[in-house]
Amino acid sequence: MIEYRNLRVALLGAGSVGAQVVAQLQKHGEELANRAGAGIELIGVAVRDIDAPRTAEIPRELLTTDAEGLIVGADIVVELIGGLEPARTLILEALNSGADVITANKALIATHGPELFAAAEQVGAQLFYEAAVAGAIPIIRPLRDSLAGDQVHRILGIVNGTTNYILDRMDLEGQSLEEALAEATALGYAEADPTADIEAYDAAQKAAILASLAFHTSVPIEAVYREGITAITGEQVEAARRAGYVIKLLAICERMIDADGDAGVSARVYPALVPRAHPLAAVHGAKNAVFVEAEAAGDLMFYGAGAGGVETASAVLGDLVSAARRHVIGGPGIAESTHGDLPILPIESVTTRYQISLLVNDQPGVLAAVATVFNEHGVSVETVHQTVSSLGAEGESATATLVIGTHEASEASLADTVDALASNDTVRAVTSVLRVEGSE
Ligand code: NDP
Ligand code: HSE
Repeated sequence: MIEYRNLRVALLGAGSVGAQVVAQLQKHGEELANRAGAGIELIGVAVRDIDAPRTAEIPRELLTTDAEGLIVGADIVVELIGGLEPARTLILEALNSGADVITANKALIATHGPELFAAAEQVGAQLFYEAAVAGAIPIIRPLRDSLAGDQVHRILGIVNGTTNYILDRMDLEGQSLEEALAEATALGYAEADPTADIEAYDAAQKAAILASLAFHTSVPIEAVYREGITAITGEQVEAARRAGYVIKLLAICERMIDADGDAGVSARVYPALVPRAHPLAAVHGAKNAVFVEAEAAGDLMFYGAGAGGVETASAVLGDLVSAARRHVIGGPGIAESTHGDLPILPIESVTTRYQISLLVNDQPGVLAAVATVFNEHGVSVETVHQTVSSLGAEGESATATLVIGTHEASEASLADTVDALASNDTVRAVTSVLRVEGSE
């Protein structure tokens, strides 16, 4: 057996992910040491309650409630507590003491990333966070390293397993959003407060991280436009299927050129219609996928488990081996690159395609009236599909449903069009407005 110098590793948190990190280290520690060229010595595991049940056996002498004390003297600190505090303070303390830090904490990176990266750079340490986006799927390193020689144009990501599970069940089983959310929660996919999933806060955090990396620009979480899936109805899911689409919650990061010809970044999260033939339409259950469109590489898709203790532990341990290798080689960590410093564009300047459903009076002149509204707002219609909704009871006029697909239009023009349609005499109701993303 090769004798290596030992690196001292402090683990903060032994919940779903942390306990599995310990289990994998116990199982494969020697192999990981060979890969890293250094012994990995787990010096302690900080938790809140030493007697709490664990999903893996952790030697009792390793457990402590003194996280701050554990950090002192560690070469590498692994933060798997979650949330903003005390995680932020503990990570800053670890970095300031010169330790490399590994975290899976998307909320923290999306909120305090610049402060943490600056602290790491100042002391020549490195902050690793592969597990913070899409769990087990390697996406941080591919964006930062493998695609460093290319130009990323756009990322379309299914980065929240809970909402993908819900939308998939609504599509395949006809379940209600509430039923499917209850299942996703029971299966352990949802956050402690599932509002973070269904209102897309979790996906927005991941979008901020992906956009920052892809465009070398610090994208604050507040700049990410966000719509959750709570307004999505079974009727919309059914109508999407009939039209050859599936509804997915997408995190979209895009390098755009604005009306004045200047480059900018858009980061946004919303439910969108995806053509059934697009690779993202085939992402079922709680799986995640990140579809990257790059100038030279073309289209790439990264697919796999976006959550789960043991799956996420894989990404954390990959970071641990990288951090250990860095210690062996020596030298400062690689700083985050934000030299792009592109402006973050508001949602109003985004252009995309839309599908709008209208309940209209089934009478002569309606189509022309509706077409005029689109024309007046500069939104070009691509497709129109009409079905009779009701023949009309005595004394009432018949109604029809019009499903109108548009060519690319700006969010601002589309919003004005929808307002004008809603107040048009021939339109009884605007029943659905969904964006269309991804080509077939
Ligand atoms: P858990 O809630 O399961 O575990 C949190 C752990 O942190 C527990 O062991 C808890 O101790 C400990 N802890 C909490 N507060 C403190 C404190 N003040 N001092 C010391 N220990 C503390 O979280 P997860 O394992 O699910 O998630 C960890 C991180 O990984 C989060 O940032 C999460 O967003 C991220 N992540 C999780 C994924 C998943 O599938 N679970 C997927 C991708 C990322 P005790 O056990 O005693 O209560
Ligand atoms: N609640 C998250 C999800 C966990 O459903 O994807 C992984 O970040």
